[in-house]
Amino acid sequence: MTSVTKTTNHIWITIGTPEDIPEQGGALFKVLRLEDPRQPREVAVFRIGSEFAAIDARCPHQGAKLDGCRIDREGKIECPLHYWRFDVRSGQCDQSPAPPLGTYPIAMFGGKLKIRVPVDADALGIVNSDPGKTPGER
Ligand code: FES
Repeated sequence: MTSVTKTTNHIWITIGTPEDIPEQGGALFKVLRLEDPRQPREVAVFRIGSEFAAIDARCPHQGAKLDGCRIDREGKIECPLHYWRFDVRSGQCDQSPAPPLGTYPIAMFGGKLKIRVPVDADALGIVNSDPGKTPGER
């Protein structure tokens, strides 16, 4: 179940367990904002071996969704629309001068994966991309 831990400038939000993140593609999480719950922050979480990375789920070029992208061994994904490649650890794009994707610290606490988001997101909770299921149920 979702839990929120507040710190001074950021909050850590539980998104599920490592098993919730697929081996090849990403998992989409929506961080609901108090200021506008209809405009959630979309975060894609990827697995790179035994590591995890969390990035903005929309391509900065024309907004394609990135959570379904296959990830390669170097931790890079390719946008499905115009094939820009991004490093999911840094958010950097191979095609300069593309702006980097936003990245979010991700860590394990007591067997649960948590992402750290700015307080301006002021999360109400997490909803995953699989309707009707919470991240822990996948
Ligand atoms: S929308 Fe991603 S490269 Fe164009």
